[in-house]
Amino acid sequence: MQDAPSFEDPVTAPRPHPYTIAHRGLSAHAPENTLAAVRAAQRIGCQWVELDVQLLGDGTPVIWHDNGVRRCSNSRGKLIKLDLAKAKTLDVGSWFSDAFRGERMATLEEMLELIGELGLGLNLELKVNRGRDAQALVDAALPMALKALPAKQLVVSSFNSQALEAARDLQPDVDLLRLGLLYEKPPRQWLTEAERLKAYSLHVDWRRLKEKRAREIKEAGYQLLCYTANDPVAFARLWPWGVDGVISDDPSLFTYHLPMPSEMRAIR
Ligand code: G3P
Ligand code: MG
Repeated sequence: MQDAPSFEDPVTAPRPHPYTIAHRGLSAHAPENTLAAVRAAQRIGCQWVELDVQLLGDGTPVIWHDNGVRRCSNSRGKLIKLDLAKAKTLDVGSWFSDAFRGERMATLEEMLELIGELGLGLNLELKVNRGRDAQALVDAALPMALKALPAKQLVVSSFNSQALEAARDLQPDVDLLRLGLLYEKPPRQWLTEAERLKAYSLHVDWRRLKEKRAREIKEAGYQLLCYTANDPVAFARLWPWGVDGVISDDPSLFTYHLPMPSEMRAIR
């Protein structure tokens, strides 16, 4: 009798994360990077969310994308000018819609507690905006995230190589910290970077990804995530390249547009 094949069946093998991750929470339907957006994501069945973290002026890590607060709050000015007390007076929901009036900026601590309660996975993006200190962000945010979530429920990513280096220095064990390299377009030397940082994944802009690069990334054994895709029909041509997941403002758009088993088998 023949031995059972030793490879994992790509159709039935357990996956480290789902095909879709909610970008800034369910940001198509709730104010981005808020507790409400994460609750909304969980309510529609998302198992993972992507969120941005950076520091207030007093060093508190908060879930926020921009350098300033004008776009996503009822105030204006730079995030670095705010301490926690001041930040908590901002309304970060009504810019999106009246239904979210009174929503408050979430600290990383509050967000981690919610994610733990809801049993979600988190792709935490270390957002180092212009003029901000990557090391300070890592020192404040990473220990908190590592303590709050099991290693398999957390991927820490950044566009900023200093932040990624600081994160890897803080936790050198690849089983305890999964690091994601964020690129608009992976550069020629992506593999050197990935090996140096002992990366887990690459997160790339789906519009700039080429099949050759996607296959190289997969052949080298990395997870490949694409951001930020909201057009599942246009995205469909990428699945056969071995893409592992898509970061979307509305993952429900992808419900009927996930890779077919035949495409998954063709990848190996
Ligand atoms: O992490 C993927 C994506 O969030 C990166 O871009 O600007 O939306 O944080 P941005
Ligand atoms: Mg982000």
